[in-house]
Amino acid sequence: MKHLLYLKELNQRTISKLLAKAETFLSTNNFPPPQDKNLQGITLANLFLEPSTRTRSSFQIAAKRLGADVLNIDEQHSSRTKGETIIDTIRTLEAMGVNYFVVRHKERGILSKIVTNVDLGSHVINGGESVDSHPTQGLLDLLTIKKHKKRFDQIKVAIVGDIKHSRVARSLAEGLATMAVKTLTLIAPEEFKPDMKFYPNAEHCKNLDQGLVNADVVVALRVQRERIESLTETISPDHYFEKYGLTMKRLEPCNDDVIVMHPGPMNRGVEISDEVADGANSVIREQITNGIAIRMALLSMMQAEVMK
Ligand code: CP
Repeated sequence: MKHLLYLKELNQRTISKLLAKAETFLSTNNFPPPQDKNLQGITLANLFLEPSTRTRSSFQIAAKRLGADVLNIDEQHSSRTKGETIIDTIRTLEAMGVNYFVVRHKERGILSKIVTNVDLGSHVINGGESVDSHPTQGLLDLLTIKKHKKRFDQIKVAIVGDIKHSRVARSLAEGLATMAVKTLTLIAPEEFKPDMKFYPNAEHCKNLDQGLVNADVVVALRVQRERIESLTETISPDHYFEKYGLTMKRLEPCNDDVIVMHPGPMNRGVEISDEVADGANSVIREQITNGIAIRMALLSMMQAEVMK
């Protein structure tokens, strides 16, 4: 675990260790005792070349709670605007003693390129790459599911919405496969159906009511307008909510103790109603808190390897 680029790189034992470590942080409200602050003297840089609220802030909080210094590089005001490559930016920061780099980038494969160009002592963490990968979101989603459902091999997870453009869905599916989830159902219109080769253990269903039958976990996804090339009637703002928007009525086929998740940011009234987003089944705010714990667990375990 020197770097983390894709969730499929982690085996079940490592994911279980990360979840257990994150639960210890949650038990102290994400304020670790002094002996757990193993990032003192370390500097982490957040390099987010796409917008972020949750991921960037939670890495900042997680690293600081473990004793690290944190740099948030603001792309608009950095020398990237003068043509510097991301790799030269990272090399520059390495020369200042930065040890950890959390990178969000729209280019497919850029994280692998970065890893082959960094110093031996540097760590690279994927904060969201293209539509392909968002491993720490996948881990925080697994943590949230585990806290409520205890085990993965007896539950049905339904992911609903714009799966085609979702790195969150890809990473969560990779993690669920490793944790041997019983059933993973992808509910999406044809326009949002992903390439199923990336979801070998999942089934696709176009009909929301059918797909939600006996679901234990429902993950709603944002309609990613910025990545959609052309709108059809089904996915147009006027029709989408009617067919795929989550309301309390639409949740009726699920099991009674279903939990509803959403990685954020939410488009209320598009993929999810207020009553579901803020209702008794929603664990959306909890996901955000869990995001700090899992990023603390990741950083802490990576640094523990260095100190061995
Ligand atoms: N879930 C997620 O990645 O949110 P941000 O884009 O706000 O980081």
